[in-house]
Amino acid sequence: AKTVYSIPVVFHIVMSNPNQVTDAQIQKQLDILNADFAGANADSTSIPSYFKPLFGKSGIQFSLAQRTATGDPTTGINRVTTTKSSFSYTANDVKYTSSRGADSWDPDKYLNVWICAITATSSGSILGYATFPGDMPAAEQGVVIDYRTLPGGSYTDYNSGRTLTHETGHYFNLYHIWGDDDGACSGSDYVEDTPNQADASSGCYSGVKTDNCTSSGNGIMYQNYMDYSDDACLVMFTDAQVTRMEAALVAYRSSLLT
Ligand code: ARG
Ligand code: ZN
Ligand code: CA
Repeated sequence: AKTVYSIPVVFHIVMSNPNQVTDAQIQKQLDILNADFAGANADSTSIPSYFKPLFGKSGIQFSLAQRTATGDPTTGINRVTTTKSSFSYTANDVKYTSSRGADSWDPDKYLNVWICAITATSSGSILGYATFPGDMPAAEQGVVIDYRTLPGGSYTDYNSGRTLTHETGHYFNLYHIWGDDDGACSGSDYVEDTPNQADASSGCYSGVKTDNCTSSGNGIMYQNYMDYSDDACLVMFTDAQVTRMEAALVAYRSSLLT
């Protein structure tokens, strides 16, 4: 049987009205994350037959933390009222109580997920961002998502919870499927079973979609969580992505399992 890895998660809801995000919404988001990692998402039926053999199913699962670092009971949902209306993703203020955010819980013991309003940039909304294994300072390890990306949130096309799936992929060392090379075919995601892809996808394609880097065959995998398609069209990790994430967990984040 497949090894199951269980990761304790703390959600820090840092907002002027943190009750705006309900426990039910958090539970739904967690269920989506778990289904997506396990390859148990109902919409995996939309994976085309030619990509089905690559469909990855991870043993990594997530549960709300039940104990604080000092052993007290917790719901794993930490609501913090802030006077800041939004948080810059470069300043990381949301990760520190001293800058009107919320300090991380021991990043070796918990996956920290901060939920807040993220300040938009000149190029648009920031749905979320994440740290890669080894990124410093350790106190900033974890994932930040905008509250409007939660299931039922107000970011149209990005409100089915797939932003957390994508960011958690980064947290376990996955890169973007197009290799972040701006249309060149030289960049890589260091995953052997994903097609070479020129640039980020957007919206929702259907059927075979080829590009400059994969111009024939089954085309690019715009259905992959590490692409930028709309939430409704992101439905899979691949086998080799799962292998890479599980290897990263064992190599860099195994303290989360103890
Ligand atoms: N821009 C973000 C990142 O690269 C998140 C993109 C998430 N996409 C989505 N369809 N939810 O980390
Ligand atoms: Zn990303
Ligand atoms: Ca590329």
